Amino acid sequence: MSNLVSIDDISREEILDLIERARYFEEHPNHKVLDGKVVATLFFEPSTRTRLSFETAVNRLGGRVIGFSDAGTTSTSKGETLKDTIKMVSNYVDLIIMRHYLEGAARYATEVTDTPIINAGDGANQHPSQTMLDLYSISKTQGKLNDLTITMVGDLKYGRTVHSLLMAMRYFNPTFNFVACDELRMPKEYKDFCDANGIKYTEHTEFSEEVINQTDILYMTRVQRERFTDIMEYEKVKNLYTLHNDMLANSKPNLRVLHPLPRVNEIDRDVDDNPKAYYFDQARNGLFARQAIICKALGIDIYKENN
Ligand code: CP
Repeated sequence: MSNLVSIDDISREEILDLIERARYFEEHPNHKVLDGKVVATLFFEPSTRTRLSFETAVNRLGGRVIGFSDAGTTSTSKGETLKDTIKMVSNYVDLIIMRHYLEGAARYATEVTDTPIINAGDGANQHPSQTMLDLYSISKTQGKLNDLTITMVGDLKYGRTVHSLLMAMRYFNPTFNFVACDELRMPKEYKDFCDANGIKYTEHTEFSEEVINQTDILYMTRVQRERFTDIMEYEKVKNLYTLHNDMLANSKPNLRVLHPLPRVNEIDRDVDDNPKAYYFDQARNGLFARQAIICKALGIDIYKENN
């Protein structure tokens, strides 16, 4: 692995290897294996967790970071193309981590440079580093990845985190419940993907306790205002699904609530103190998963370097 553009690019073995590496970094967060390396973080879309955890990861590994969090302050605002921006930045760094609002932007970047590219989110398409931290979180909390029931709730149409997670889980015999209104249903291409890979799924418009009570991982998502062209459509669907603490009363003991964050109204604050709420720990796991991804992209043998 040098580029990480789609979760579909990496095998089951590579996923399991990245999880082991994340576990290693959780125990050794300040392992300095990036001495002399410079990493660019190019964020054409807003971010808190992804950018800051990637940058923390580089810093804790002993590398250096350049980049931007607001493309409006760069020559993009003068009309420079994405191609030229990527080619220019490639002159300066060993690795590029990029988020862009256009689907396919990261894949396109790999075609214009030999510098490794990590996709930190491209439109409604993919968010593979989020998926790695989700898988690490699932593995930590469930003790396994196989044979789990995962309920995805909210914006399943535009939610790149659920698209990436669904694809990665194909190796682990999941059962999915998709809970969404008609406007935000899981797109056909992902249901076709389930069918092609023998993945069981059911669809629901009601967020019922019956569904919650059979769930191991409850994956809540935000309805993303920025993906709607018609703001009235957003207003219609933005508050349809909210998890409240009492809805977890009869849930399985091992259930954990995940959310890629940021949340708006989809998880009530009264859930935060429930031991089953895992979304802040999940975000912390992002640091270790991203340390693992960076080292893998740069071909660094973390175990050897430690000897
Ligand atoms: N989960 C996630 O991608 O969060 P940010 O948008 O804050 O990076």
